[in-house]
Amino acid sequence: MTDYAKIAQDLDQRIAGAADLAALEAIRVEALGKTGSISELLKSLGRMSPDERRVEGPQINGLRDGVATHIARRKAALEAAELDAKLASEHVDLTLPPPYERKGRVHPTMQVLDEMIAVFADLGFALAEGPDIEDDFHNFTALNFPPKHPAREMHDTFWLPEDEKGERKLLRTHTSPVQIRTMQQGQNRTLPGWIAQGQAPPIRVIVPGRTYRSDSDATHTPMFHQLEGLVIDRDIHMGHLKWTLDQFIARYFETPSVETRFRPHHFPFTEPSAEMDVRCDRSGGDVKIGQGDDWMEIVGCGMVHPNVLRNCGLDPDEWQGFAFGFGVDRLGSLKYGMPDLRDMFAADLRWLQHYGFSAFQAPNPATGLS
Ligand code: PHE
Repeated sequence: MTDYAKIAQDLDQRIAGAADLAALEAIRVEALGKTGSISELLKSLGRMSPDERRVEGPQINGLRDGVATHIARRKAALEAAELDAKLASEHVDLTLPPPYERKGRVHPTMQVLDEMIAVFADLGFALAEGPDIEDDFHNFTALNFPPKHPAREMHDTFWLPEDEKGERKLLRTHTSPVQIRTMQQGQNRTLPGWIAQGQAPPIRVIVPGRTYRSDSDATHTPMFHQLEGLVIDRDIHMGHLKWTLDQFIARYFETPSVETRFRPHHFPFTEPSAEMDVRCDRSGGDVKIGQGDDWMEIVGCGMVHPNVLRNCGLDPDEWQGFAFGFGVDRLGSLKYGMPDLRDMFAADLRWLQHYGFSAFQAPNPATGLS
């Protein structure tokens, strides 16, 4: 007589002792697989007499069912343990600092230049450019600075050493020399193209660029940015200039209520000349625009001097125009609240992280451009 109870006990012991799913599977195959020990017992039923079968059958079936149930239970327990082990070893530690992600930022000056260009493009201005290293003629003489005139000293010019021809080049002290280049090249018509490098009147260009003066305090840096504007046409007057600048201010500051004033001034290359200020409040830590009792100068401007037109081959009785030159960095500090201009070019990454702009911006509501 086969001792089924003994077989069941042995198997149960081994099932309980199976260390992992693979060991348990081996036991299952050994007992219940095609040629497993219990399967062989089941097959032996066919060789028995009906009487034997009636006794043995229920016992073997019982044995098979019992073993199958125990294997299934052990399997569930092993799987649960395996999951627990996995959870324990792969848990997420939320107290760890996140990995540092280094993102580039757009420098405020470049952001401001983009905004300014968008507004002036909308007003119908084309872009013009000129070299940072200029000669005395374009930076001063053609702009009606008399030779040896003290106005040249006003600019604290960075002069380069004399070249072979005895000429001293300079770092341009303003973007105004590009007025001369645009008007002169317009007369020669040497440089066609969508960039208004030179064009015959009517002229309507802006010139964004770097400029240099030996000067450094909270509102002056040795390298800074200007945006020049030049309009030459027939019957142009101060009213056009004032309207253009007011339009610009309203759109740039995204409000119609910024107050501006024109102050008489002197530039050798414009007559009459003016400076435009915006109302601001400097009593707190940073500058607030459009309120308070203070004024900040943001743009020099005026009607192009007849001598300048003549120097560029244009007849002042036929053509008139206006010009303006913005301090770009200053406009940025006014709009985005950066109190000290020197920080802008100190190449401090923490400053840039704080004041810089994302390269992917929502469109500016004033201009529709991003
Ligand atoms: N070039 C002048 C400056 O740098 C600004 C200016 C430009 C004034 C055009 C009048 C016309 O101060």
